[in-house]
Amino acid sequence: MNKLIVANFKMNQTPIETDEYISKFLSLEKNFKSGIIICPPFTSMYLFTKKLKNPKIKIGAQNCYFKDCGAYTGEISPKMLKSSGVQYVILGHSERRIYFNESNTLIGEKIKAALANGLSVIFCVGENENERTKNIQNDVITNQIKKSLQNIEKIDLKNIIIAYEPVWAIGTGTAIFPSEADKMCKLIKDFINKNYNYSQTKVLYGGSVKSGNAKNLFEMPNIDGALIGGASLDAKEFVKIIDIAENI
Ligand code: PGA
Repeated sequence: MNKLIVANFKMNQTPIETDEYISKFLSLEKNFKSGIIICPPFTSMYLFTKKLKNPKIKIGAQNCYFKDCGAYTGEISPKMLKSSGVQYVILGHSERRIYFNESNTLIGEKIKAALANGLSVIFCVGENENERTKNIQNDVITNQIKKSLQNIEKIDLKNIIIAYEPVWAIGTGTAIFPSEADKMCKLIKDFINKNYNYSQTKVLYGGSVKSGNAKNLFEMPNIDGALIGGASLDAKEFVKIIDIAENI
């Protein structure tokens, strides 16, 4: 099955830097079979939607609010994203949970609003180091899913991708063992299947994915792709990871 490769630029790149990135990416681009989603900062989205013509490559946002419009200074609505050519939004990323105190309930409201506006959601879950040390990662993850998806109908699940991102592996350069990532992705799939009777959910792994470890991760049967932070900021490295996914 073709893998899904998602770039999360986080708070990186000015529009000028994005312009350079796109030129480089286009010079390396091939006839990709994989699904590719690039999630740049809001200020660079317009450039991506205008300059990338390949329909296989979709644009995503890294966050949104749950209201359509109104007096919410500094926020961006799912409606605004959808009308700007954006098709996906990352919600529940651990950096939003940690630095912006986003709760499972708030994330659930955002997911519902994003889906109602026709966006697909990349919903991130994952345990932190302390929770892994206590060996409670399974409960942490199923609790995150249960709380944030409690008001979601089965029919909406086709528009939700789950990204398993152990917080302790993000930005560290050291990914989780592939077999452990596979086990966690399977746990998520089984949980969704058991609770919603839906077996098609795609589960990505995220946390220090790079060209050096991508093959071993992508070979795992329950890992449907990757959510890539740091390594996606280098167009050459990002294309290299896509190439690895295509050759599995
Ligand atoms: P990383 O980030 O690839 O830099 O570890 C992944 C993420 O936070 O989505």
